[in-house]
Formats: sequence, structure tokens, C-alpha cells
Amino acid sequence: MASSDRIIAGLDLGTSNIKCVIGVQRAEGSVDIVGTGSHPAVGIKNGTVCSAEDVVRSIRAAVEEAEMMAGCDIAEVFVSISGRHLDSFNSNGVVRVAAEQVTDEDVLRVIDVAKAHKLPADHRVLHVVPQEFVLDHQTGVQRPVGMSGVRLEVQAHVLVGNGKCTDALEACCQQAGLRVVDIVLAPLAQAEALLTSSGREMGVALLDIGGDTTDLAVFHRGAVVHTALLPIGGEHVTADIKDCLNVPTAEAEHLKQAHGCALAALVDPDATVELPGVGGRRARTIKRSLLCEVIEARVEEILKLVHQELEHQLYLDLLRGGLVLTGGMANLDGMTELAEQVMDMPAVRGAPKDLHGLVEVVQNPRYSTGTGLVQYGLRQKNQHWFSTHGTHRPKRGWSRFLPFVGR
Ligand SMILES: Nc1ncnc2c1ncn2[C@@H]1O[C@H](COP(=O)(O)OP(=O)(O)OP(=O)(O)O)[C@@H](O)[C@H]1O
Ligand SMILES: [Mg+2]
Repeated sequence: MASSDRIIAGLDLGTSNIKCVIGVQRAEGSVDIVGTGSHPAVGIKNGTVCSAEDVVRSIRAAVEEAEMMAGCDIAEVFVSISGRHLDSFNSNGVVRVAAEQVTDEDVLRVIDVAKAHKLPADHRVLHVVPQEFVLDHQTGVQRPVGMSGVRLEVQAHVLVGNGKCTDALEACCQQAGLRVVDIVLAPLAQAEALLTSSGREMGVALLDIGGDTTDLAVFHRGAVVHTALLPIGGEHVTADIKDCLNVPTAEAEHLKQAHGCALAALVDPDATVELPGVGGRRARTIKRSLLCEVIEARVEEILKLVHQELEHQLYLDLLRGGLVLTGGMANLDGMTELAEQVMDMPAVRGAPKDLHGLVEVVQNPRYSTGTGLVQYGLRQKNQHWFSTHGTHRPKRGWSRFLPFVGR
């Protein structure tokens, strides 16, 4: 590694796995992913720490694996969180511009107004993502600083979460010897890796089907306009296989990953799968299509819930860019085909752009949050105008606002 290379690490605290991704920005600007590590998220339940000791151990295991692969040590990380305690809403704020031209201070004040909402107990604002500014009567302003005007308005998407949960996760990172540079919600980190500015402009839904949850983020006119979380994911699919085929959880997980397909009609009707004998029972042979019907039923349910959410929020007709699938479950064969059928829109498996290095990792949707964190870290280091205090760490807790996304 050259001395001019800059190392950036992302730590994805998922509900089923903790994943670490290490990236290096070369002097000429290109970004290589050089290390990854993954460890089951022991001690985290529904995005909440239930055993700090186990979480610290899991973090260390994932980080050490990535460090070993990368051949370097990391001291600081960009962290992403997910979980059922996260929530979001759209909001707006208005201020009078202090001088003739809009300054950073005016922008920070209007953001503060937009995020001034009564929140549930223990919750706090994690991100404020501006969708558009309105300066006097001029709508659609993206960067108002330096423009002349009197009345500055912002429309923004506000993401909130339980402060105790985020503090506990940060404390675990610190105990694992890592300084937390910033906390980023998983869908926003993934968007950094998977979405292009034209896709966001056209309207696109980013769907992360993970272990315990499914995260939906809708982008339109360049910015995030809606986020939602469904408390259902790949672990429910595994549980269905376990119950329907009467196999242990580990075997159900293996069957899903090795032989699963989300659309049963795509598999050869004569294909079979061996189920090993457990607890004194004899080994069995079943039709692969039976396994896939079990999987399809649950995945179809997840996709129908997502469709309902988009319909209810009136975003269905705005998604000209279709659906981008990610998260571990996006690895399943037949996912894009089933998604297109259920959602009635084009669907693709998200693949990060502008990244090199460990291709199999970069292309694996399990790691899209980690690679997104690396890209977020790079962008953030290059863009200070939106940062509250010119550092990555705002003074007032985790509250911060993100820049418009665009590449
Ligand atoms: N190759 C594969 N085929 C099918 N399913 C897979 C594959 N790889 C991973 N999965 C499933 O993906 C899920 C985990 O995905 P992921 O690692 O994105 O979750 P997470 O980030 O820990 O969870 P969350 O995002 O809900 O917090 C598990 O249910 C796992 O079985
Ligand atoms: Mg995840």
C-alpha cells in the first residue's frame, strides 16, 4: 500500500451479520475494496444490543477478518445501523435569510427548523436529507449558499432512531477499539454504492431484503423521499423452510442458499434435493420445486407488502427507474423475476459502480451497505459544505444532514 493511499472502513451492523469492508483510495482517485469480513451478529436483536460483550466480540471478529485480508489495521469506521427502532417522515422549515446572500449558517438554521418535531421517547434525529430548497419563489434549488434572497425554505426527509440503541452500538465499537466517524442509516449508505444520479432523478425504489428486516427507500428528483422498514426478512424464509420441511435451522439455511429459488416455476420440475437424516430419522429426498414453493410464498408476501406501501404512499407511478434489489436475499435465484411479476415494474440486482478490487465482494449484495459506507466516507471527506461543524462528528449527538446525492 502506498503512503499516499487513504484507507476508509465501513462497518455494517446488520441484524443477522456484522460486515466490515475496507477500501483504499489511490492517489489517482480510484477506489479499491481490499478487505472484507463477516461474522454473525451475536448479541444484537432487532437492531438493539442485548449482550454488549457478544457484540464487541462479533465486531472484532468481522474487523480482524477484513484487516487480515487487507493487510492493514483500521482505527476508525463509518458505521451503518438498521433495525425496527428506525423511523422517518417528510418535513419542511422556513427561515429569514440573515444577510443578502444565503450562508451555511442560514442552511443550518432552516435544517434545524425542519427537524424540530416532537419525537417518541428516547428517539432522536439521525439524519436530515434535504430534498429541495425554495428561495423566495424559486423552487428546485439544490445548493442555495451564495444565492440572493430573503425567505429560505427546505423540504427534507428526516430519519429518526432510538438514541439509546445507537449509543449502545457506538459504545460497542469503541470497546472493540474503533473510533466511530459517523453513523449512517443502511439504505442511505447503500444508495451511495448502488444508485446513479440519473436513476435517483427518474425515480427508483431501493429494496434491501436482509435477515430480520426489509428496508425500502424511495428516491425521486434526486433525493430520498420515503423510507420504510418491514419487520420481515430472510430469517423468516429460513424459519418457514425449517417448519415446512421439518429440518434444523442450519439445514434450512443451507437449503435456501444452495438450492433455493424465489420463483418455483423457474426450476426443473423433476429436480430433487437430499435432506440429511437428523435425530435418528432417515435421509429423505424431496422435489426442489417444493422447497422453492415454500420460499416463494414468503418472498411474495414481502414483495406484496412493499407494493402496498408504495401504493399507499402514492409512489408507484413515480418509479420510472424501477426497483433495485439488495441485501443478502437478493442473492437468491429468481428474485428479480418474482419482483418484476409482483411489483409490475423492472427490477435489477444492485451492483456498485466505480469500485474495483475484490470483485466477488463488490458484486455481492450482502456487502452493499459496507461498500456504500466506504463511498460515503470518501464523499464526505471531499465535501464539507453540508457538515455542521466542518468535521465528521457533529457536536450535537448524531444529528446531521446529508448532502444532495449526485455523481
Ligand atoms: N446466497 C444466498 N442465497 C439466499 N439467501 C442468502 C444468500 N446469502 C445470504 N442470504 C440471506 O440473506 C439474509 C442476510 O442478509 P444480510 O446480510 O443483508 O442481512 P443483515 O444486513 O444482517 O440484516 P438487516 O439488513 O435486516 O439488518 C439471511 O437471511 C441469509 O439467509
Ligand atoms: Mg443489512
